[in-house]
Amino acid sequence: MQYLLLLGNTPKLSLAEIRAVLDSKAKPVLETVAQAESNLTPKEVVDRLGGTIKVLKIVGKFAKEQDQEQVKDLIINQFKKEAKDKKLNFYVAQIGEKSRPRIDLNQIKTKLTQLGIKSRYSPGRRIGLSAAKLLHQEVVELNLVYTQKELILTKTIAVQDIDLWTKRDRHRPYTQRKKGMLPLKVARMMVNLAVGQDKLKKAKLLDPFIGSGSTLIEAAMIGINYLIGADIDKKATQGARENLRWLKEVFDLKFDYEVHHQDATKLNLTTKVNYLVSEPFLGKQTPDIKKIRHVYLGLEKLYWGAFKNFTHLLAPGAKVVVVFPAWPSRPELDFSALIDKLSQIGYTNTLEPLSYGRKKAQVERKIWQFSYKG
Ligand SMILES: C[S@@+](CC[C@H](N)C(=O)[O-])C[C@H]1O[C@@H](n2cnc3c(N)ncnc32)[C@H](O)[C@@H]1O
Repeated sequence: MQYLLLLGNTPKLSLAEIRAVLDSKAKPVLETVAQAESNLTPKEVVDRLGGTIKVLKIVGKFAKEQDQEQVKDLIINQFKKEAKDKKLNFYVAQIGEKSRPRIDLNQIKTKLTQLGIKSRYSPGRRIGLSAAKLLHQEVVELNLVYTQKELILTKTIAVQDIDLWTKRDRHRPYTQRKKGMLPLKVARMMVNLAVGQDKLKKAKLLDPFIGSGSTLIEAAMIGINYLIGADIDKKATQGARENLRWLKEVFDLKFDYEVHHQDATKLNLTTKVNYLVSEPFLGKQTPDIKKIRHVYLGLEKLYWGAFKNFTHLLAPGAKVVVVFPAWPSRPELDFSALIDKLSQIGYTNTLEPLSYGRKKAQVERKIWQFSYKG
């Protein structure tokens, strides 16, 4: 089935995730909307992905030149089909081409009344209702997607379960917000970049800088059933174990895990893993800019030591997705020399690095993907 997918606030990362998991030919029709083909149901799609907020079904494609009245007729026709016996709760979102006038929902309601259809609409933003509203209310949301070439009329058919994401984010017993935590949706996207469309039954996934366990939590959510973590900080290992125990119980999941109190540069395991997904130590979140060079040199050494040690832990063909820090105010402090060195010990870079960072943050995350030759 062809879907349009509404992407979250890191659209490039979301698109890479869709290409890895659903459809390597997925293409952006707008910066925030991608078109992809998948055999999964809409709910399966949105439950699997971290970077997609809504799944939209294509109702029809039209020339962009239509006047506002013709567009309203298209919408009314669609709502006529959707209206059942009860009152229709509707919304019309407009995505792309912000300069176009907003569709007047009151006029739509009046026209529907003239047709004998009782209706009401919810107030919302131009780009559509929030996931929370769509999840908790029965609303028919149509979306006018203005691409460069055409107008695509779509209907929202699945939405991210924001309640479950919030539960994992806010209610897990252990957090280490001061040290920095990976947003869970980014953790999910990283896991998905690593595992792609592989069968998950035999997957073993390692995070050697586990922190609070964000990557392993999201790996468990998609069905990976053997998870390994390590951290140099004993509190983090205890906390991550507690989080994984909690996840298993509250989300009723089946998986095994081991969490070691060890330095990633010396970690030793009895088994080899086929996936490594991690956000290592990135230095302070608000570093002293004058001392960054020093921090950078320390991290370069830590990453090199860790990647050298990982060669003993990874199975041939293992996929590795790791965050490297970047400091937007000091672009010359990049890790390209280290990345080159990694290719000499078996790591092949398999994707352009993808950036993730809050606006104006002093430290940005760059997500790199490698395949390990073994
Ligand atoms: C940025 S945090 C990871 C946060 C994690 N992704 C999360 O969402 O909770 C980095 C972690 O690396 C750990 N760490 C630092 N140096 C380490 C080393 N040499 N070996 C293993 N862990 C280390 C820190 O204790 C910290 O918990």
